[in-house]
Formats: sequence, C-alpha cells, structure tokens
Amino acid sequence: MKLTPQLTRALNEQMNYEFSSAHLYLAIAAYVADLGLDGFVNFFQIQYQEEIFHAQKFFQYINDRHERIEIHGFDTPPKTFDSVLSAFELALEHEEAVSARIHGLVKLAHNETDYFTVNFLDWFIKEQVEEESTFHSIIDKLKLVNDGAGLYLLDQELKQRIFTPPVQSK
Ligand code: FEO
Repeated sequence: MKLTPQLTRALNEQMNYEFSSAHLYLAIAAYVADLGLDGFVNFFQIQYQEEIFHAQKFFQYINDRHERIEIHGFDTPPKTFDSVLSAFELALEHEEAVSARIHGLVKLAHNETDYFTVNFLDWFIKEQVEEESTFHSIIDKLKLVNDGAGLYLLDQELKQRIFTPPVQSK
C-alpha cells in the first residue's frame, strides 16, 4: 500500500519541522550558555537530541514506505530572549504548535484510511503529552524561583537530565 502524495508531503513537512525544532533548542542552549547556566545548557542540548530523534523517526518511516524523503532549509532561530522564563515560554508555545501539527497529521491519515501511518503517529501523540508537560513544569518552577539562588538550584537539577532514546525506535 502506497502513501498518498498528500500524506507523503505532510510527513516530509513534519520531519523538517522536527529538524527546525532541534535548531530552535540549540539556539536556546546557546543563549543559556552565554548566561553561564550549564544545567539549562544540558537540558536544551538533550532537547535538541530528542528533536533529531523525532525527525529521524519520520525519515525512517517515509523510507520504510518507499517514498522520497525531502530535506528543506528553515528560518534562523532567535539569538536572544528576554529571560530564561521567556525562552521556556516560547519553547512551550512551540511544543503546542507541534502537538497541533501531529493532530493534523493523524486526522489526515484517518481521512486517507492509512492505518499504518495512524499507528506510526501514535508514538508522537504520547510523546507530545510528555513534551508539553516537561516545559509546563519547568515554567512553574521558574515562576517560583525568580532569579538568584533559586535559579542556581534549578540549574543544578537540570544537569541531571540524560538522553535516553526509547528501545523501540520505530
Ligand atoms: Fe518533536 Fe518536541 O516535539
């Protein structure tokens, strides 16, 4: 069974969007590195790796369905942010946009009665709950601590984050 041209195009767009998400998080990592917040750098470097992992899942899936993978360019991400909190708020907004895009893909896959793709996207539906929740909880903490010692303690906590790709990568 072939992917439809519309679904192939939409999956390629999402793959490229995941690569651009990685780039955005790398830009935020560069911003917090400039502030000397190593734990936050670690957090966003891992977020970068996660986004590359997401993009590669789309790459592999389009290839598994024997359709053409198309790599695009993307906009330059912001260089600076008003604060660490505003960088996280932007990240959450970005994740909400990703969730909406994934929902749109699921809807399209249903419309095209492509249940292979519906099943593939199920992983992303679950992942987006986690992605949004991660950013929400750090935003809550940032609002509690403001700047100073609290920010330092949160920075120490975020040093602990490690990248653990799921065992089942398809
Ligand atoms: Fe790939 Fe953070 O969504």
